[in-house]
Amino acid sequence: MTSRKIPVIDSDTRAIRRASRIVGTRIAIACAGVVADASHELRTPLAVLDARLQILQRALPTGDPSSSVVADLRSDAKDLIHIVNELLESAEIGGAAVHDTAVVDLVAAVDAAMQSMALIAIDKHITIELDAPQPGPGPVRVPASSITRCVVALLDNAVRFTPRDSAITVGVAVTKKTVAVTVRDRGPGIHGIDHARIFDRFAHSAPPDADGDEARTGFGIGLSLVREIAVRYGGSVHVFTSTAAGTALSLTVPRAKQTRSAL
Ligand SMILES: Nc1ncnc2c1ncn2[C@@H]1O[C@H](COP(=O)(O)OP(=O)(O)OP(=O)(O)O)[C@@H](O)[C@H]1O
Ligand SMILES: [Mg+2]
Repeated sequence: MTSRKIPVIDSDTRAIRRASRIVGTRIAIACAGVVADASHELRTPLAVLDARLQILQRALPTGDPSSSVVADLRSDAKDLIHIVNELLESAEIGGAAVHDTAVVDLVAAVDAAMQSMALIAIDKHITIELDAPQPGPGPVRVPASSITRCVVALLDNAVRFTPRDSAITVGVAVTKKTVAVTVRDRGPGIHGIDHARIFDRFAHSAPPDADGDEARTGFGIGLSLVREIAVRYGGSVHVFTSTAAGTALSLTVPRAKQTRSAL
């Protein structure tokens, strides 16, 4: 008599199990995304911190009593970089940035990214030059921190691929409704990955860099975050050019309407 009910209970149980597996997987993916993004965002500031400590370490005279403390600080920074890299390796997807529509000075936000990345570029004797029109492009309706994050991600790749002793250019170009920030390097061009795929999360390649060395393996997160941010604020990012003479990637964002008081 009870045998007829068993299949019903079984199928309900299976459905519940299947649903809980799906929910569990989605929660795990969401958590991994938060971890991946947070870790990725910490990596560059930590590298900058390490570079600043290195400058301080070199500036200290031999036998300075602070030397050991500075050495410890550098070791701490390296430990943190290691932890963040491990977190990135274990995570599978990323999340989203905070929404904010403040009107900001784009060139100042670009400059902040250049200042930070100059500290990392110095090791390869790379200079980062700004080519912006005068007067400036005026404000954009994208948070300054988001512009800075995007330009840092573009510069991070450029520094990685461009040859030693060369220059990276950050160009700012204005149209009636948009501002484009183009980061141009003198690296070997995009290899080992389809141009259309470089903005996909976790899509990356590790071709030889401009010096013929095996490039540091990336995580394929940088450009996906740039695209997410650009799209969120009504902009876009694309490969402007990529040849054996270098690569240029352009981030385009809408200009904010000039109010009378801003004119
Ligand atoms: N300037 C560039 N020159 C040559 N290839 C590039 C350049 N920028 C991006 N790429 C290619 O696009 C891929 C994706 O870039 P993306 O910044 O998303 O990831 P990544 O740099 O590999 O890792 P991450 O940014 O997470 O450290 C890179 O792995 C590389 O193959
Ligand atoms: Mg990158």
